[in-house]
Amino acid sequence: MADKVALAITGASGALYAVRTLAELLGRGVHVELVVSDYGRRLLRDELGEDAAIDKLMPYLASRYGDAVNAGGVTIHSNRDLGATIASGSHRCSAMAIVPCSMKTLAGVAHGLSRNLVERAADVMLKERRRLVIVPRETPMSLPALRNMVLCAEAGAMIVPAMPAFYQQPRSLDDLADFMAGKILSALGFEHDLYPAWTGKVDQ
Ligand SMILES: Cc1cc2nc3c(=O)[nH]c(=O)nc-3n(C[C@H](O)[C@H](O)[C@H](O)COP(=O)(O)O)c2cc1C
Repeated sequence: MADKVALAITGASGALYAVRTLAELLGRGVHVELVVSDYGRRLLRDELGEDAAIDKLMPYLASRYGDAVNAGGVTIHSNRDLGATIASGSHRCSAMAIVPCSMKTLAGVAHGLSRNLVERAADVMLKERRRLVIVPRETPMSLPALRNMVLCAEAGAMIVPAMPAFYQQPRSLDDLADFMAGKILSALGFEHDLYPAWTGKVDQ
């Protein structure tokens, strides 16, 4: 499907979901337009360690997920650059995921604020009727956050909450991250085998 996909990483817990999703996209030869908010950068380091800092991200991905990640390419944009390619609908970027999505960025997208590149690129997806996948993470959720998810869904985004399942009997954090990355890839329109398809076995 898409040969260019935008991926935003914001300051919610769940950096592992973001790097797993990024590695899967790259492994498919996708060119990823990556934008990471200031708190997204902090959470990459806080949750995955200094080796996952943005300037070391490609070697980190290769060491964690293998050289297959080199099949794709990455352009890293500044979140302050509202003149970046993905800020325009004329740029052929056919889908975007925000993984994980903070409640602050969710609010900005819901209200079309475009205060930074993450919010602007998301707004471009909505106005151009392209796929926008939002992976919110917070608990418990405030009423404004719940309402903001509804606003985004009404505008055409797909809300894919960071809610890994347990019916596939995960044995590790990576198994849980694979489940979420698989859900995100499906929402972006990619096939994958990151978790076993449900077989529909009958419960006697
Ligand atoms: C360690 C840490 C964990 C956080 N986890 C979350 C979270 O899970 N969800 C959330 O909405 N905000 C979380 N925040 C708060 C956001 O990072 C904060 O609201 C920030 O302003 C979001 O900005 P951004 O959307 O531009 O990244 C966390 C902050 C820190 C420092």
